[in-house]
Amino acid sequence: MTAHYQVHGDVAVITLDNPPVNGLGLSTRQAIAQGLDRANDDPAVRAIVLIGAGKAFSGGADIKEFGSPKAYQDPNLLSLILALEHSAKPVVAAVHAVCMGGGLELALGAHYRIAAPGTKVALPEVKLGLIPGAGGTQRLPRVIGVEAALNMIVSGEPVPAEVLAGLPGQKLFDRLAGSAETLLDEALALAREVAERHARGEPLPRVRDLRCRHPHGDAYFQFARNMVGAQSKHYPAPLKCIDAVQAATTRRFDEGLAFERETFLNLMTTPVSIALRHLFVAERAASKIADVPEDTPLRPVRSVAIIGAGTMGSGIAINFLNVGLPVTLLEAKDEALQRGVAHIRSVYEGQVKKGKLTPEQAEQRLGALRTTLSYEDIRDADLVIEAVFEDMEVKRRVFEQLDAVMKPGAILATNTSTLDVNRIAAFTKRPQDVIGTHFFSPANVMKLLEVVRGDATAKDVLATIMALGKKIKKTCVVSGVCDGFIGNRMIEQYSRQAGFLLEEGCTPAQVDRAIEAFGFAMGPFRMSDLAGNDVGWYIRKRRYVEKPHLRYSKVADRLCEMGRFGQKTGAGWYDYQPGKRDAIPSPVVEQMIADYRQELGITPRAISDEEIVQRLVFALVNEGAHILEEKIAARASDIDLVYLTGYGFPAWRGGPMHYAEQFGLFNVMQAMKRFAKNPHDDAAFWQPAPLIQRLVAEGKGFAAA
Ligand code: NAI
Repeated sequence: MTAHYQVHGDVAVITLDNPPVNGLGLSTRQAIAQGLDRANDDPAVRAIVLIGAGKAFSGGADIKEFGSPKAYQDPNLLSLILALEHSAKPVVAAVHAVCMGGGLELALGAHYRIAAPGTKVALPEVKLGLIPGAGGTQRLPRVIGVEAALNMIVSGEPVPAEVLAGLPGQKLFDRLAGSAETLLDEALALAREVAERHARGEPLPRVRDLRCRHPHGDAYFQFARNMVGAQSKHYPAPLKCIDAVQAATTRRFDEGLAFERETFLNLMTTPVSIALRHLFVAERAASKIADVPEDTPLRPVRSVAIIGAGTMGSGIAINFLNVGLPVTLLEAKDEALQRGVAHIRSVYEGQVKKGKLTPEQAEQRLGALRTTLSYEDIRDADLVIEAVFEDMEVKRRVFEQLDAVMKPGAILATNTSTLDVNRIAAFTKRPQDVIGTHFFSPANVMKLLEVVRGDATAKDVLATIMALGKKIKKTCVVSGVCDGFIGNRMIEQYSRQAGFLLEEGCTPAQVDRAIEAFGFAMGPFRMSDLAGNDVGWYIRKRRYVEKPHLRYSKVADRLCEMGRFGQKTGAGWYDYQPGKRDAIPSPVVEQMIADYRQELGITPRAISDEEIVQRLVFALVNEGAHILEEKIAARASDIDLVYLTGYGFPAWRGGPMHYAEQFGLFNVMQAMKRFAKNPHDDAAFWQPAPLIQRLVAEGKGFAAA
């Protein structure tokens, strides 16, 4: 059963029990409805308490039911709430920890509510491209006021119960419990009190009967539309939230409810909501590893050592300091160590200036940082992350040292972005303890962590790093070992296409503009200028030797030969004014590209934005399909997460693989065939991955890969 029924004296208690967060799936809804009937039929029962077992009152809809017919099957959430409202005996909702989405809507259907301190209350549907669909937009404004409710509904952010209980005139919570432990007893006491009052003839209060007005409604909602509209360009839901809350102020309750429902159902089928729900499910799926059981015992990680205090090492350190884990930074040279510490200090000072941290918090975090030049000082660390130069010889020396000094069972991780993790593991006599942790720059900001599983990596090492990644608030995606792992292996194909586009007639600015209009945070050329054009140059030089059969545009090499490494040298694909980051199209670069075309004998042609976007995105998709087929990524949605959290792919498009599926894999393949016929594109490049060919032939999507 996903909800239990018990009678405590004269009060029936219905306990939601559907771990992890008491999702309101069909069987839970049925069990609640049955409990209500039973309580109403039992003459010995005078009142009903609805409470949640475990970690939450309820997190809302059951994600396993998303979009499936089960979600609408009776009793659906709306009818269940109606049944609560119509209960002849008073219903008290006793909420703790998490009261969100459908969980809050359910509680709003009860006659009375009591909350444990610290309960997080939210209507987060907007984050999935939706509005609340079971009365939330109509009932919440009635109990906490129009403006407070609109803020919650448009942002989707949780608000602590104490804050809501403190709002003047609020009717959301009748009482705050002393603690989560005493919540049930206090709810029982409240239930008995209200049963008594009800017996004396006091009617049962219903949220739907409360008035909902705003003194300056029209002006207020217009203001809200202006504010929200400007911030939610590609997202239809936030403005629809405003429409629905306004309806609560202008329409009768049932009409408002019908309007909310219709709006909700319309949003369900929008590409944006489909994409956002895909990513929500993807995020949860990514932490599951088929052959690593969820209850795998973890290795304790109480201290971390980092080798190399450069760009990455110092950024990585901040992640652990932020969650209270002591970090020891080890460097080859004292000077580099001081630079790393200065960087960490400046990040914390910046956060203090912005008011994100108090000076005491910053000092406390810095106080957990140690530095050393000696391996002796790190031997007891539970985890060591290597972030030294990207050079196999340097890595070899570091891992041999680590193997010699680290205590048994310590996890040895490498932050390499391109080198073979299996080879690195083989430098030690404990390859089972070696793993890749590929952070993205800036490592204290970027959400993505590619967790690279070597052939010998032990399951508990993998599970420990996944759990630790979650603790430091990263989105962890497991990648197999290959050159570039998931993200950089794909971006290389995207960059190659970007180069071909220049050869065929585009300017860097035209390419960047087109893909940024598609929704990427930054186009390939602005991005490259930011990261440093020498990074790609270094990789290409390696490729020319390792893979001489692959064609690369040499335009980017010419740029580097001119010393234009990007923002750090004040010039790259674009010009930069001293101290500024605005990319100014460069006539020098455009001339260089034109000269290069002439050398190749290419007459430039006009290339549409549509072609630019498709060539860049489908380059990602085709490589993604290879990655999937080679089982470097476990699922297509993992690839989408990598792109969303590491490469600025627009969330509202759901990631490259999702986008391709929505576009139609057949159509993707047709486009590739067209590009293969372009006079100066690389026909070999556009050979569709065998997986795509198979899925198109079978009429299936990536889920069948
Ligand atoms: P960096 O050049 O900024 O820092 C490397 C640091 O390692 C330097 O401070 C150097 O003094 C130190 N070092 C070199 N040899 C050492 C040794 N034997 N023992 C101790 N310290 C030593 O390099 P960065 O950018 O931080 O890269 C580090 C690693 O992270 C590389 O493997 C790189 O491929 C990878 N990476 C870099 C990214 C980036 O955007 N910069 C992104 C993801 C991974």
